[in-house]
Order: sequence, then C-alpha cells, then structure tokens
Amino acid sequence: MAAELVIKNLHVQVEGKEILKGINLTVDKGEIHAVMGPNGSGKSTLANTLAGNPKYVVTDGEILYHGENIAAWKPDERARKGIFLAFQYPMAIPGVTVANFLRTALNARRKETGSNGDAKAISIPEFRKLMTQKMELLKLDNTFATRYLNDGFSGGEKKRVEILQMAVLNPELAVLDETDSGLDIDALRIVSEGVNALAGPNVGIVLITHYQRILNYIKPHFVHVMVSGKLALSGGAELALQLEEKGYDWLKEPEAVGK
Ligand SMILES: Nc1ncnc2c1ncn2[C@@H]1O[C@H](COP(=O)(O)OP(=O)(O)O)[C@@H](O)[C@H]1O
Ligand SMILES: [Mg+2]
Repeated sequence: MAAELVIKNLHVQVEGKEILKGINLTVDKGEIHAVMGPNGSGKSTLANTLAGNPKYVVTDGEILYHGENIAAWKPDERARKGIFLAFQYPMAIPGVTVANFLRTALNARRKETGSNGDAKAISIPEFRKLMTQKMELLKLDNTFATRYLNDGFSGGEKKRVEILQMAVLNPELAVLDETDSGLDIDALRIVSEGVNALAGPNVGIVLITHYQRILNYIKPHFVHVMVSGKLALSGGAELALQLEEKGYDWLKEPEAVGK
C-alpha cells in the first residue's frame, strides 16, 4: 500500500520568492514526525502547502497522499479527505460557533468518506455526545461549544480548540504547526495529552515545533530539521535533544551564520 504522505523534491514559492527548496519526506500511518528548525526556515510554508493554501505555489516536485498527487485538490477537498492542519495562528470567525463549525466540517468529511457507513450527517444528540467527550479530553468547559470560533480566546484556548478540531474530525494526516507556542506548562500538558490520545495506528502526524519542549510529552519516531527551506538533517528522537543543546546555527550554511 502507498504511504500516507510522500513529498518528493518539493519546491514552493510565496509571492514569487522560493521558500522550500527541495523537500523530501515520507510519513506513514502510525508515525509521528517532528519537523524542527529556526524561525523563517519554511516550516509553516510546508504546513500551508500541505493544506493547499493558494498563496503557496508548488513550482517543482510533488505531494502524494495515498499515492495520489494532490496538486489540484482545493483546501476543502484535502480536509474532507482527511488532511488536517492545526494553524500556528488560528483565525477568529465571529458569527460561527465552535459547535456549528465542527458539525459542518465533520458532516462534510463523513459525506466524502461515504463507504464506511458514516455517510449520513451526524444526529444532533450524537454530535453533542462526541463534542462533550472530546472537550473533556482537552479540558475545555461546555461554554466553548456556543462561543464564536477563536473570538476572544486566549492563545492556549485557541491551541486547545485546534486539537479539539482534530479530535472531532479524526484525520488520517495531521499537521500541527507550533501547537506548543505560547502555551504555559499546564496547557502544554493538556494539548500534548490530547495529541497522544489521538495518535495511533490510523494517523500520521507531522509535529512542527521550534522548541524541543513539547517532545518531552509527545514522542516522535523521527525528527527532521528544516534549514533554509531544506531538511538539513533527519534522525530519531535523540536528535531533538542534541538540537536543544547545540541550537540550530551549526546546521546553517556558512554564509548564513552570523547574519
Ligand atoms: N504568506 C507569506 N507572505 C510572504 N512571505 C511569506 C509568507 N509565508 C512565509 N513567508 C516567508 O517565507 C519564509 C519562511 O517562513 P515560514 O514558513 O513562516 O517559516 P517558519 O514557520 O519556519 O518560521 C519567511 O522568510 C517568510 O517571510
Ligand atoms: Mg512557523
């Protein structure tokens, strides 16, 4: 069977500037891949490209999802087919409640996956039960269901609601972009426990992070380091500890160091 995600020689431009310069990465179901790297190295560009953000233009290479080239897939199609992105900076959507947003997204996904018997819209009681269960997992109280999405949420609440979305949508490929940034230690633990509860044999996870800290809670199978739009180094979980100790400078191209 084809791997969940295969990225081959991916080159991406943003506003005419090449940011990703030949990324190769394979993620299989059941695997957690941490992508680390300095600020501005292209981590969020990779996440946005996978999600299909039209500002991010693939100029070379390909992204295969279950063996299919997804170049022409719009963001909503990618989401319906099980690709999930937790944003580094989640947007507020005043007027749309968390519950309505999630139910609409879930129903779109169920319709798409049809054949497994889930094709029908989820009933309201069934959805409530699912929401309550997943909100408990992320220690979000009930009032969040009826609040407008991310509107006035603290940084930590936004990140927990991103993982709530993941919990409800049950993706096959989850890309978590700096889900740890701005979290205090308690929120970090809650978010990590949420991710760990969702990790498992049916999902591939790309965990993007600048800091090693979250990897104390979520154990990656592989660690990759992005430097200047390339994966400069890959290894096991121990690589993250090495980076914590040595920083990123030693991996940068000589002319880039000291700038
Ligand atoms: N939407 C955008 N518009 C303009 N420049 C962008 C955009 N997204 C990313 N970039 C540029 O791409 C480079 C990599 O950014 P990013 O992918 O956000 O890095 P990271 O997530 O590793 O910090 C930066 O120079 C950034 O300014
Ligand atoms: Mg980023």
